Amino acid sequence: MSDANTELPFYMRGNHAPVEREVTADSFDVQGQIPEQLSGLYLRNGPNPPNGDPGHWFLGDGMIHGVRLEGGEAKSYRNRWVRTRPFNGDETPRVGEDGVADFTIGQANTNVIGYAGKILALVESGFPTEMTPELDTIGTTDFGGKLTAPFTAHPKFCATTGEMLAFGYHFAPPFVVYHQFSPTGELLRSEPIDVPAATMMHDFAITENHVIFMDLPIVFSSETIEDGMPFLWKPEHGARLGVMPRSGGNTDVKWHEIDPCYVFHPMNAYERQGNIVMDVARYNKLWQAGGNDFDQAKLTRWTIDQTGGGVKEEPLDDVSIEFPRIDPRREGLKHRFGYAVSTDASDGIATERLVKYDLENQSSQIHDFGNGRTPSEAVFVPASADAAEDEGFLLLYVYDADRDSSDFVVLDAQNIASKPVAVVPLPQRVPMGFHGNWVPDAS
Ligand SMILES: [Fe+2]
Repeated sequence: MSDANTELPFYMRGNHAPVEREVTADSFDVQGQIPEQLSGLYLRNGPNPPNGDPGHWFLGDGMIHGVRLEGGEAKSYRNRWVRTRPFNGDETPRVGEDGVADFTIGQANTNVIGYAGKILALVESGFPTEMTPELDTIGTTDFGGKLTAPFTAHPKFCATTGEMLAFGYHFAPPFVVYHQFSPTGELLRSEPIDVPAATMMHDFAITENHVIFMDLPIVFSSETIEDGMPFLWKPEHGARLGVMPRSGGNTDVKWHEIDPCYVFHPMNAYERQGNIVMDVARYNKLWQAGGNDFDQAKLTRWTIDQTGGGVKEEPLDDVSIEFPRIDPRREGLKHRFGYAVSTDASDGIATERLVKYDLENQSSQIHDFGNGRTPSEAVFVPASADAAEDEGFLLLYVYDADRDSSDFVVLDAQNIASKPVAVVPLPQRVPMGFHGNWVPDAS
């Protein structure tokens, strides 16, 4: 499959195209040195449709690419499809004739996390899918029957309490449900949240005491269901941020109007003198001309005045970015540093650059991977448990167009512009996917 084949949509061409094989490798020609303290799995999920064009980038079956690190070495690489019911050939429709959705049916293609000793592949339309460390699929989990609504691909882990906070959205009421989990794997409660209509609510944010829902105008529409992505840009829906105490419920949500826009991913949020500060990758508009009309996002700060003074919106940079991440130990707390993929590219998805923001000094630095080398989302791993914010490593896959293959790369976050700490050439390319995480052995 090559870029010359412009008949294909962007997500089936170049390094967006799926790979055809599952590969296992345990020997690598490593350049540099894998940090000895990194012991665990770096996992990254993304769509990898095995049977041609699924109709939209977001709809391909999930495939996880994983690298195991231990004792200063890259021990293995493997890529495996998430063997969901649809992947295994089960043609049961996700939505039955009675209009009821079965949340055990989905692509599990968006994120992969470690939580309470388990590895979970996530997609926002259904239940998590449990995987083994070898990336074999165990199956969907509903947390002992307690989960009865979809589960976001972007749960948040409180850096202070270890709780997992999540939500899910659905095309039928209740459109949004908030989920609160213990640090040890139990779903403690699910709380329906009232919103005016079903919107695509991809992610949310937490602070020390609150969660923030983003009700933005990508609205569910059965008109476009045949196109694969049943959502339309409808700015008349308005846009609002819902701030709720973490332990609260629907009646506690305070909604704050903002200008219509779209945000897939916040970088982080935190509380400051009674206000809530939320840094996001903000699109002025999205999918105006249909579900493949991607625009560009810019890092933007919302400051929510909780006393009713509105939401102040300020751009933080004029570079287009996506996949913003932080040091996970700052989740919900004030972050100084953030990391993102620059998206100032003709295909609107990726360039050769990773951006690091120092939001205290209002400055940024770039790692330029060089011509034809495109990074995917970078995951921050601290150098040690008591390391300072930003003192650690960025782990990511980088595609090399010349070799038509990919590298696993480790950068020193504090010296992001310097040459990588380690580069591990992989036996095949890793398609431009979505999200991943570091799963340390101790977790
Ligand atoms: Fe996402």
